[in-house]
Amino acid sequence: MKFLANFAKSFAFMLLCLLVFQQFSSEIEASSKVDYSQDVIYQIVTDRFYDGDPTNNPTGELYSPDASNLHKYLGGDWQGIIEKIENGYLTDLGVTALWISQPVENVYAVHPEGYTSYHGYWAKDYKKTNPFYGDLADFQQLVEVAHENGMKIIIDFTPNHSSPALETDPNYVENGAIYDNGTLLGNYSNDDQGLFHHNGGTDFSSLEDGIYRNLYDLADYNLQNETIDQYLKESIKHWLDLGIDGIRVDAVKHMSRGWQETLVNHIYTHQPVFTFGEWFLGKGEIDPKNHDFANESGMSLLDFRYGQALRSVLKDEDATWTDFHEMIEHTSASYDEVNDQVTFIDNHDMSRFTSSTTSKTDTEMALAVLLTSRGVPTIYYGTEQYLTGEGDPENRKPMPGFDQNTKAYQLISKLSALRQANPALGFGNTTERWINQDVYIYERKFGDHVVVTAVNSGDTAYNISNMQTALPSGSYNDVLAGLLNGNSITVNQDQQVNSFELVPNEVAVWQYTAESNGPSIGHVGPMVGQQGNDITITGEGFGSSNGNVFFGNETAEVKSWSDSEIVVTIPALAAGKYAVTVETSSQVSSNNYEGFEILTNQLVPVRFVVDNAETDYGTSIYLVGNTQELGNWDVDKAIGPFFNQVMYQYPSWYYDIGVPAGQEIEFKFVKKDSQGNVTWESGTNRTYSTPTTGTDTIQFNWRN
Ligand code: NOJ
Ligand code: NOJ
Ligand code: CA
Ligand code: CA
Repeated sequence: MKFLANFAKSFAFMLLCLLVFQQFSSEIEASSKVDYSQDVIYQIVTDRFYDGDPTNNPTGELYSPDASNLHKYLGGDWQGIIEKIENGYLTDLGVTALWISQPVENVYAVHPEGYTSYHGYWAKDYKKTNPFYGDLADFQQLVEVAHENGMKIIIDFTPNHSSPALETDPNYVENGAIYDNGTLLGNYSNDDQGLFHHNGGTDFSSLEDGIYRNLYDLADYNLQNETIDQYLKESIKHWLDLGIDGIRVDAVKHMSRGWQETLVNHIYTHQPVFTFGEWFLGKGEIDPKNHDFANESGMSLLDFRYGQALRSVLKDEDATWTDFHEMIEHTSASYDEVNDQVTFIDNHDMSRFTSSTTSKTDTEMALAVLLTSRGVPTIYYGTEQYLTGEGDPENRKPMPGFDQNTKAYQLISKLSALRQANPALGFGNTTERWINQDVYIYERKFGDHVVVTAVNSGDTAYNISNMQTALPSGSYNDVLAGLLNGNSITVNQDQQVNSFELVPNEVAVWQYTAESNGPSIGHVGPMVGQQGNDITITGEGFGSSNGNVFFGNETAEVKSWSDSEIVVTIPALAAGKYAVTVETSSQVSSNNYEGFEILTNQLVPVRFVVDNAETDYGTSIYLVGNTQELGNWDVDKAIGPFFNQVMYQYPSWYYDIGVPAGQEIEFKFVKKDSQGNVTWESGTNRTYSTPTTGTDTIQFNWRN
């Protein structure tokens, strides 16, 4: 008997191991390069994290061995990151993606203000590594070790500019010079090929001004130049081929959307990876152009609205949870794919969340909300150690230590695991369940999966009664196990929560992970592409044998199929927007995932110029044409408003547009006034044969 019981016990144990193993291995499998919904990103300033290899440190004026000068290199490198993966610091933290500094070779000169390029934003040769971070073999090892540990690698990438330069002084820093794997391409002050813009620095007064003039003193690329266009696209391909899983694009507000559409299209055609841009928004700033960019460019954005709003409530304490929830509702309406926007509470361009005037508890509450909200949460390195620092470079101090016992560390670890285990966080929708100036209780739901988060940031306890929930009846323990003072709750038959108390500074998280009830799509990535590109569909209940995937009514070729992830190629369909639907092998259909955009062809950047287009104040020039990319003759989708200040001046207008390669297109320019009244050009449609590769500029006269 005893023997049998033992046998049964060990059998059960083996079964458990098998189950755990299967779950674990399927999680690693599911970690795709295009779906980050269930990931947590950890942002590392490579030079500031950990020095794993002192032999690669710079010497002389570039280096501050005792870290007393935060404008210099401090020695951190890829080997340091590898060590912190291998010794469990990053794996136990639970983060599943590392965003590292731009890995490319940067200038070696010291800026007249004493700055160095430790941050990686001053590129010199995009096809070489920054030797102070490591060599190519180190980078390859970092990617390999990260992948073995279920972590993705995201690189920062600056296609907007090279490095600081001055028109009049070739000796200023390194004159913006760029090299193609060692061969000089050109420099700023002697730019006979037109690789750069020469329009002075931007005063940030308009979108156009910010795009075509220099950002600070950074040598601004002329992205319509064929050499530059090709060089940057080859460069990103180089890093894609090294196995990276994501790209954070620097300063997207400072490049034309048209060119960036061609960059994203190039990435998604070669090796699709999650791509998100940095469009800085100040506190309280709302910019419809930011929403348009996220919806139309093909890439996601860092979610500054989210970050600024959460900081207002918990750091600056000048807004309430009601304001915060308004932001949640407004952004979910403004962003087509709100779950793909990249959320954060701080980064290297703003004061750290933790400061001498906030308590550790404020940081913990902010992290708890961040990790249970919509979007892809990003933790800035050191937040788990309560690192402080106001402006740059104080907000980029070295890691103060690697303590795995801080509350913040444990919180991140628990909630990262929850994001992976319960798809309500990554794929779901948000419902507010109870709110006042101090308390925010919200629910995330996907299928029957539910996660409820309750936070009380006020000074008084609240009795929470009459709260509805989608959690099924039963009782629920706090996922954080009381780490932030949370308790359990009981849900009755009417899906009401029995009244409970929420004390000051309490955060509790309750969750229900359901059986899947049929196929549900949680995410499609990327959401744009042309025939033949790979698209990944994630969710649950797809079944283990192949069924069908539809774009509209057309089936797509299936490349791989599992219960939670399907890869297909985009079928041959007229360009336009389609719903994606999964049908299981037993003919059960999923939800329609709306808004997938099929392009006419790969995109190339073309500058359209129209001269002598006189307008009344408030009226602008747009372009509309006969392809999906040009609005399909729908003036509401016309491309523009065109610019008329920097590269060409009124009454000339220009705009850089991503057009389908190698096509005979038809188009017209139109005038739109502020009321939306449209005046079309006279005459027949204009025709133009777009280039198959490279770039082009075409110029016309407005036809009255
Ligand atoms: C935004 C980056 O995040 C910031 O740190 C950098 O200095 C500028 N772009 C210029 O690359
Ligand atoms: C901009 C347009 O708004 C959109 O409809 C078009 O297809 C994209 N460009 C191409 O990515
Ligand atoms: Ca080093
Ligand atoms: Ca620019």
